[in-house]
Amino acid sequence: MFSTHLEQWYELHGRDLPWRRTGDPYLIMLSEFILQQTQISQGTDYYLRFAERFPTAESLAEASEEEVMRLWQGLGYYSRARHLHAAAKQIAAAGCFPKDYSFVRALPGVGDYTAAAIMSLAFGEPYAVLDGNVQRVLARHFGICEPVDTGQGKKLLRALADEMLDRQHPALYNQAIMDFGALLCKPTSPLCDTCPLSGTCQALKEHLTDKLPIKSKRTAVRDRYLTYIYTRTKDGQTLLRRRGSGDIWQGLFEFPLIESDRPLTMEEVEKTLSNFCPPSLTLPNCSASNRQLPLKGENKKSPFKGDLEGLSLIARDVRHQLTHQRLHADFYCLTLPHADDEMVNGKWSNGKWIKESDLDRYALPRLLEKLLEKL
Ligand code: ADE
Repeated sequence: MFSTHLEQWYELHGRDLPWRRTGDPYLIMLSEFILQQTQISQGTDYYLRFAERFPTAESLAEASEEEVMRLWQGLGYYSRARHLHAAAKQIAAAGCFPKDYSFVRALPGVGDYTAAAIMSLAFGEPYAVLDGNVQRVLARHFGICEPVDTGQGKKLLRALADEMLDRQHPALYNQAIMDFGALLCKPTSPLCDTCPLSGTCQALKEHLTDKLPIKSKRTAVRDRYLTYIYTRTKDGQTLLRRRGSGDIWQGLFEFPLIESDRPLTMEEVEKTLSNFCPPSLTLPNCSASNRQLPLKGENKKSPFKGDLEGLSLIARDVRHQLTHQRLHADFYCLTLPHADDEMVNGKWSNGKWIKESDLDRYALPRLLEKLLEKL
């Protein structure tokens, strides 16, 4: 039988992972959030750090967003961290982790997969997980030629996943099929020679292992060109800004940025910085009476003007791949004689000068950490 073979294989070859040694639904949820877009090899350290710092939903609920983001730093897809934090608050408010599918599925950041994983692994409830790994195992074994990303294909696989689930041992079965997909029935070069299910595998029989599962759509990838200006003063300060909502890296910090639809030459970067309009006319938190209007003729003057000899190129076209975006970053360093508050009030509002030695207290996107290593 399908599930018996999987479970026997898992008893011998399954991975010993730290979240598999606990029955605590909060810790299991934590691991599932981390693993949503992250490889186990990278996610394990993060899980251990989070579990140590926030051993309960209450402790995570009480933490500041800053601390949660900082601990998450480097994992990417930061909305996961915000959702995890919000979910912990809801669980803390409920008093305990309810053994209730509707509650779990309605938590922020919890989709069908994560809900099924939590319900089965923490509570032993019969919910079948279905992610890319499981899709692949099922599509190959049962020879599903329907594209898995269409409504029809999804329905078919959902029905098959539910039918195959070992309802007596949902936790064991789900972990078995996860590991089987990750370790044996791999996307490329599956280990069919040692597969305990090879005798009944349709894909193997019909020489379709490298064709299945079929996907109908190719997701478009967009190129973005980001020029970061690491701005530092002679007394060791640097300029940071918090990113807003509606784009990647919401809530994370970054250096002054020029975004363009193609790479910029150094001359273009200099020009952009020189033409950068001063913020004096648009100070957001200043009443008209104490607002200092610039002197006539000065209102085109950039706070950078005259200081651009301190500009140097550090790195070009450092690439960073997100799910649907390919980022190309150029990295400049601009050294200024002193911190200029004008800069943080206008175009780079929300910006602030901080000590360079305090940079590690701020959650930065992984790309910016990579850039900093080049300084
Ligand atoms: N991927 C997502 N959840 C997982 C889990 N609980 N174990 C292994 N891999 C996973």
